This record gives sequence, structure tokens and C-alpha cells, in this order.
Amino acid sequence: MANTVLVGTQWGDEGKGKIIDVLSRKADIIVRFQGGNNAGHTVVVDNQKFILHLIPSGVLNRGKTCIIGNGVVVDPQVLLEEIENLEKRGIDIGNNLKISDQAHLIFPYHKIIDKLRESRKTRQKIGTTGRGIGPCYADKVNRCGIRLADLLDKEVFKKKLKLALIEKNEMFRKIYRHQGFSFADIHRQYLAYAEKIAKYSFDCAEFLYSAIKKRKNILFEGAQGTVLDVDFGTYPFVTSSNTTAGGACIGTGVAPTDIDKIIGVAKAYTTRVGSGPFPTQFSRKLLEEIRHKGNEFGATTGRPRRCGWFDAVVVRRAVTVNRLDEIALTKLDVLDGLKKIKICTAYNYKGKKYTVFPPNIKVLEGCQPVYEEHPGWPNATSSITKFKNLPTNARRYIERLEALLNVKISMISVGSEREQIIRKEK
Ligand code: GDP
Ligand code: IMO
Ligand code: MG
Repeated sequence: MANTVLVGTQWGDEGKGKIIDVLSRKADIIVRFQGGNNAGHTVVVDNQKFILHLIPSGVLNRGKTCIIGNGVVVDPQVLLEEIENLEKRGIDIGNNLKISDQAHLIFPYHKIIDKLRESRKTRQKIGTTGRGIGPCYADKVNRCGIRLADLLDKEVFKKKLKLALIEKNEMFRKIYRHQGFSFADIHRQYLAYAEKIAKYSFDCAEFLYSAIKKRKNILFEGAQGTVLDVDFGTYPFVTSSNTTAGGACIGTGVAPTDIDKIIGVAKAYTTRVGSGPFPTQFSRKLLEEIRHKGNEFGATTGRPRRCGWFDAVVVRRAVTVNRLDEIALTKLDVLDGLKKIKICTAYNYKGKKYTVFPPNIKVLEGCQPVYEEHPGWPNATSSITKFKNLPTNARRYIERLEALLNVKISMISVGSEREQIIRKEK
């Protein structure tokens, strides 16, 4: 296995966790490079469901090194809970977990401001996960964030937290009429976290540099999806990090020349949680049917996901900005039994046809999708293990997607279990 980056190609929840779990067997190291616990990556093994928020989804394969890179924003409380829950369920974390000492930490004020901003009438509601992700990244760029290395140095931590709270508390009181935060409480709470987390702290870039020299196989686990990327997504309805393949280098310290392969995960239809345009969203009846069949409820917040037809304009954007080598297509089984299946190939807006994903939210909100219609297949696909055994129309659907995207679909997932995967011969 080469050094492989795996990214979502849509609005997140494409089934990245499942594909990472499958690919982890051949990897030595699995590393998260951006996002935080806004992510919810589901892995199902022997009917047991695990939802990973911060720890890489490779953790369910024994003995793999799991890394949280510098590009991730870490909520220590959530991290410690996640470790504890996994250990309770018999997953041995032991020495396998490492966290970059340059990763920024989420503090209580990040979570509160995330929620307060979302509830303000004068601000655009993004529909965030409320986990403090955006405010933590904002502090990072604004150069007032606190990193794991800062927390682990008592003097530095005290000074940085004091300074941060002076500014934050003034803002909380003056703008949000919130009482603000006590230095002593946060200081005590985070020093206790520091004691527990210190043993995982390491220099991510140096470690991966040596690992690459030793020809170890590294799997980079993206969170969210391409059109939630802060640069390439449906801005401002995006997350606050670079979810696209370039983020893997920035978020770990690995050079672009050391990346060998980029895989995109695409759902056989489209889903979205939170606010923002969604051109191919189903009308009510089909939306409820697919939401139910695909169990489309957020793995992090439990919110119902909006569902719609496959949008080739969106995924073509993902092909371009990630330079995808392959696609893993997930949840094909959810389309079983539909009489007709549509694929959006372009958008029409005020007489103009868009085949390339437009940056203008007004176009995305007001456009009419241009659809192709394909016949569905009545049979269940969830126990099929070979491409040639898929119903003819399912094969045609997959081959049509390959033609529209100009990328090979190398894996097809037909259920949430590890074994429910079809490798498509080259
Ligand atoms: P992620 O955030 O990209 O890892 O995706 P999520 O875990 O949030 O959402 C994907 C959901 O679909 C999870 O509940 C998975 O267990 C489930 N899933 C993954 N692949 C398949 C598949 O091929 N078929 C079905 N029916 N479910 C799948
Ligand atoms: P995984 O990794 C789907 C969405 C939120 C919101 C927007 C901004 O499981 O695919 P944030 O809390 O990040 O500031 O919210 O991004 N969002 C996701 N949607 N899957 C995710 O992660 C998401 N992480 C964030 O719903 O619209
Ligand atoms: Mg998810």
C-alpha cells in the first residue's frame, strides 16, 4: 500500500469511517489531519457499531499506530471520553495513539461562542455541530490559540489562558451578555487533562518523516467533505478547515511529494446536514424513504440528514481539487428497489448552464438540476461480493458515474459491515 489520502467528495458522512477501516488492514499508520469532534465516523464490526470522533477509524484494527495530526482541533474532554469508551469495549489503545503537540485545543469558551453566534439573529446561521470547531480554528489563525505543547508547559499555559480570557470575557459580557469564564476553573480542569494526555503528545512531522524513510504505509483520514472545505466548499456554509487532499500535508507536516495516492469516498446519492444550498435534494416522500433506508441521521448530533440524487457537478469538483485517483462508492444498497434513479449532470440558472461547480451561493440556491434518468434494479445488493454479480442496471449506474467523473470506482460498499465491500477489477 502506498501513502494514501482519503477524503470525502460531498458534504460529509460519505462512509469514510467504513472505508478507512477496510483500508487500515494494509496500513501501518492512520492519521487524522483536520477537523475535530464535529466528525462522526462509523465503523461496524461483527454487528458492533463504533462512532469515532477524534481517534482515527483504523483503531479497530489491532496494533496500528493512530495519529491525531497538528491540523486537528482537539477537545481534551471528548478525547479522554473516547479513549475510555473504546477501552471499556475492549479496544486496547495502549501506546498506539499519538497526538501532535502542535494541535490546537478546544476550550469551553469556543463551544459556548459557537452556540451563541448561531443563535444570533444578526448572523448567518451555518447549522454547525456546536462543538467549538470554527472558533478554535479562528483563534489559531488569529494567533491567540492554545496548543497541546502550550498546555504541557505550566508557565506558558497560565500566561496564555490569562491573556485569552481577558479578551474573551470582555467580548462575552459586552456583546453576548454572558457572564464569561473563570480562569481558576478552566486552569484546574485543563491541568487535570494535561496529566492524562501528556503521554500521547509527540512531534508528528518528525515521526512521519522517519516513518516514510522506513517505507511505512500511511493512511490519511479526511473528515467532512470537499464541499464543506473552507476554500472550495459552499462558503459560508462550510466547516473551518481544509477538508481536501492538500489539507493532509498541512495538517501533518508530510510533504506533497510523499503522497502516492488519493481516494475519494462518494455516497451513491447525496446527503447534507446543517444549512446551505443542496440543489439535488429530494422532495418529501423520497427524502423520508431514503433517510429511513439509509439511516441518515448525524453520527455526531443525531440531526436528520437531508438526502438527494447523486450530484456529479459536486463530485467532479472533488475530482478536480483533490486530483482523485480512485473513488470508493458507498451505500449502493440503499438505492435497491427504486424504479428510477437520477444523476445530476449540470445546473441551469437564469438560462445559463453550469457544468462546473459555481462559487456563487445564489446560483446554487436558485438553480434547476439537469438530470439523466436511469432504470433501477429490484434485487438486494447487500450480500453481493463480486462486481459481475451486481444487477445489470446497478453495474450500468456505476459505469455511468465513472464516465461522468472520469475516475475509476475501485470499491463499492453495499452495507455497513466490514465484509460488505466489492473490489472492482481494474
Ligand atoms: P463518515 O462520516 O463519512 O465516516 O460517515 P458516517 O459514519 O457519518 O455515515 C455513514 C453511515 O452509513 C454509517 O452509519 C455507516 O455505518 C453507514 N454505511 C457505510 N457504508 C455503508 C453502505 O455501503 N451501506 C449502508 N447501508 N450503510 C453504510
Ligand atoms: P464527517 O467527518 C457532515 C457540517 C455541519 C455544518 C458545517 C459547519 O462525519 O463527515 P462545524 O461544526 O464544522 O463548524 O459545522 O459542517 N459538518 C458536517 N457534516 N459530516 C461531518 O463530518 C461534518 N462536520 C461538520 O453540519 O453544516
Ligand atoms: Mg460522519
